Amino acid sequence: MQKSDYLVELVDVHKSYGLTEVLRGVNLAIKPGEFVSIRGKSGVGKTNLFKIIGLLETADKGTVNIFGKDASTLSDDQKTELRLKQMGLVFQFFNLLPSLTVLENIELPMALNNVKKPQRTQRANELLEYFDLKKLSERFPENLSGGERQRIAIIRGLVNHPSILLADEPTSSIDDENADLLLELLGKISHEQKVAVVLTSTDLCEKLPTTKDYLLRDGQLHPNP
Ligand SMILES: Nc1ncnc2c1ncn2[C@@H]1O[C@H](COP(=O)(O)OP(=O)(O)OP(=O)(O)O)[C@@H](O)[C@H]1O
Ligand SMILES: [Mg+2]
Repeated sequence: MQKSDYLVELVDVHKSYGLTEVLRGVNLAIKPGEFVSIRGKSGVGKTNLFKIIGLLETADKGTVNIFGKDASTLSDDQKTELRLKQMGLVFQFFNLLPSLTVLENIELPMALNNVKKPQRTQRANELLEYFDLKKLSERFPENLSGGERQRIAIIRGLVNHPSILLADEPTSSIDDENADLLLELLGKISHEQKVAVVLTSTDLCEKLPTTKDYLLRDGQLHPNP
């Protein structure tokens, strides 16, 4: 595989906050359509790593290639464009906008991407139907369960046809049954929609349907058998 065929390629990435060296030589390569987990205890740097992949933070040292482009050469506008058009980012403390319905929430990233209203509604409805969540479309976030909110936030991450979806601890605040539904949704996104999916988890033993598993420990990624 050519180097530029990787969606994400991190080589010897370091990141410190003050005297705390959070990432100490992270290497990671993600190919299209892969389903990857990054596990690690609280505070080891999982969200930080996502922010670097999501071009929201810069590495202190090392190489960050995103979609074949060296992150250190990208302007803020180019980063914003890549994030909006090629990535779905679902952060740990995501927030669906409370004043918008599920359908409107899902349409929002398309509005930012200048997609016209009829196409926005069509795409949002298609996704809701595909993932069997159409019944939620007119509800407001406060009337959804935590698990449903997580699934809607993930679907929202897909609207602009990203090639990679990053889901930070998607199963952490929901019960086992909802966690299973969510993992099933992420698996479908990876296998059927051919989107690379990376999720994080603090549960080091949880059975995951991923195809590659890593453990983030002591600032480095290790294969997790
Ligand atoms: N902007 C920041 N300024 C200072 N320290 C930070 C900053 N962001 C993260 N950190 C520190 O970096 C370390 C890693 O944080 P990070 O949020 O990546 O951990 P995590 O693995 O996602 O943890 P959790 O599972 O609890 O979400 C922590 O010690 C955190 O306090
Ligand atoms: Mg985190």
